[in-house]
Amino acid sequence: MQTITQEQLARFNKLVRERCDLFFPATKQVFLEDHLRERLIAGGHSDYENYYNCLLEEPEEMQSLLEELTVNETRFFRNPSQFRALKESILPEMIEKKNREVVKSWGDETRPWKWGERHPFMYLRVWSAGCSTGEETYSIAFTILDSLKFPRAWDIEITATDINRLVLDRARMGVYGNSSVKDIAPDMLSRYMERSEGGLAVKELPASIVKFYELNLKDISARRGIMELGSAGGPVKKLDATGYFDFIFCRNVMIYFDRTAQARLVNTLYRCLRPGGFLFTGDSEPLHLFEHEFNVITEGDAVYYAKPF
Ligand SMILES: C[S@@+](CC[C@H](N)C(=O)[O-])C[C@H]1O[C@@H](n2cnc3c(N)ncnc32)[C@H](O)[C@@H]1O
Repeated sequence: MQTITQEQLARFNKLVRERCDLFFPATKQVFLEDHLRERLIAGGHSDYENYYNCLLEEPEEMQSLLEELTVNETRFFRNPSQFRALKESILPEMIEKKNREVVKSWGDETRPWKWGERHPFMYLRVWSAGCSTGEETYSIAFTILDSLKFPRAWDIEITATDINRLVLDRARMGVYGNSSVKDIAPDMLSRYMERSEGGLAVKELPASIVKFYELNLKDISARRGIMELGSAGGPVKKLDATGYFDFIFCRNVMIYFDRTAQARLVNTLYRCLRPGGFLFTGDSEPLHLFEHEFNVITEGDAVYYAKPF
């Protein structure tokens, strides 16, 4: 079996970075090397040169390699202080503000509002970027539903995206083992999940406000906010996400990128928030390393970012 040279390893590293921003510094190159060897053997390639060419020619093999290289660790209510801030200050304020806008617009309208009619201000748009197997996304869904008196009167859309199709398939199933749900408060658990084969399944209402799509964050940065959302074998939905989202969770994703790609992503996330919207990043992803226009908010242990009006 041929061993990989430093030069070959650097070429693979560069190729992966060009495709999806994932970057393997010296300390993580063994990880990259191990996965390249596995794929090379699995595909029956004669040597690394041959495997490199295959990656260039076969998008499906590139996708399979990327799926092995992504780290998908996640859990429900990860970083609880951010969810506390969402529940205790961000959502109540945002909902109150939208309600005020509704009442104000009623006054302006000549036609009376009909019961059951959805008002254009009663919407919430959220993006869970790098959602992995869905625990973060459903934690957001449960928190939003708990914050609304009449959730069905609202138009709530949680767009959850990841580059890895395998984790997206699991997220769409919405079934989790008993040990994964231990961080969900018991009353919340019984409201939004039910026993099913294989563990606990997300109930219909939270599942109905969440949509999982395939998306490479590098592409949305390159397309200046235009998302081309892929769904399981289905058509691609195009969305101009500029100023679209009320809040974005992009946590524990950019730690795997280099500084240039991180800065580009922060810029894209800023673009995709509406003025007054909020961004949550992971604990080890503070934005002070970049030039940015967000206001930094600290609330207890939680740090998050607001796009100014
Ligand atoms: C460690 S998980 C974080 C999951 C969740 N956000 C959390 O904090 O618990 C990182 C996720 O980012 C995804 N990811 C990595 N690079 C990506 C890219 N270029 N585009 C989209 N998703 C990416 C991975 O597939 C993985 O599922």
